[in-house]
Amino acid sequence: MNQPVQEVRVFAPATVANVACGYDVLGFAIDAPGDEVVARWSDEPGLKITAITGDDGKLPWEVEKNTAGVAALDLLKHLGHQGRGIEMEIHKKMPFGSGLGSSAASAVAGAYAVNCLLGEPLTKKQVLPFAMAGEASADGAWHADNVGPSLLGGMIFIRDNDQLDITSLPVPHNLWAAVVYPEIEVLTKVARDILPKSIPLEQVTQQVGNLGGLICGLMQENYGLIGRSIKDVIAEPYRQKLIPEFYQAKQAALAAGALGFSISGAGPSVFALCEGEMIAQQAGQAISKVFASINLTHEVYTSSINLTGVHVVESV
Ligand code: HSE
Repeated sequence: MNQPVQEVRVFAPATVANVACGYDVLGFAIDAPGDEVVARWSDEPGLKITAITGDDGKLPWEVEKNTAGVAALDLLKHLGHQGRGIEMEIHKKMPFGSGLGSSAASAVAGAYAVNCLLGEPLTKKQVLPFAMAGEASADGAWHADNVGPSLLGGMIFIRDNDQLDITSLPVPHNLWAAVVYPEIEVLTKVARDILPKSIPLEQVTQQVGNLGGLICGLMQENYGLIGRSIKDVIAEPYRQKLIPEFYQAKQAALAAGALGFSISGAGPSVFALCEGEMIAQQAGQAISKVFASINLTHEVYTSSINLTGVHVVESV
């Protein structure tokens, strides 16, 4: 346990969930964008949200209804904290409904900021269930493929979401991602409801093969195997309809040298995994050109796999 601080500002990164073949069980963190939460001691008892920026007035200020607030409150309850009051500021620096794990980043930042303010009584991994509770309060679903990597960084594999049995996978040093967010909103609920409730055995076999292949590829730094495994035969065929020019963007990214391409989380963001920064930039530009050709406003983020996850930006 560290010395408690007066005030702490933390940053929690965006994440790419599913990584094509790992629906609800695989995700990785990127360097930017991400959300920031400030936590400081207050003379007023209880937990209060005193500022929210960057949300266009969309987020609730009541702690019990706010993703970051719920995560922090759950953690405080678990620790039996009844001491001084705490103020929280939430600074949204990433879009909602983007497929970049926006609510997960807020929940992670909320729980982690309060944990740091208290002098880190819990390890990052121990913060996971509280951040999960925060995210679940936003979308009702319980899957750690955004929260896990936003908290811990790296590529996170979840064997079991209920038990939160998670593992950090090794990440080849030159693995990069181009992530492109087309500025349309896709509600996660809609993107989940669109999926069939049962899947033919043949597709399950293909998906399991690809997931195993991707994990082996990561462990062996085998970029070819990683590329062959970045395929989603379960969610992508249904969800691609929600993303304009999806197949053109995919073709463009692969032609630019990307190892593989799919939907980031529930979309509409898409990602290309690449060997090296230069190819990631070229893939990002190629996808950008496709969206620009239909006047679809978009943002391109190029990043190596972020191995840090949530971290303290400053503390006093
Ligand atoms: N695994 C989730 C999904 C990520 O694809 O619906 C979005 O929260």
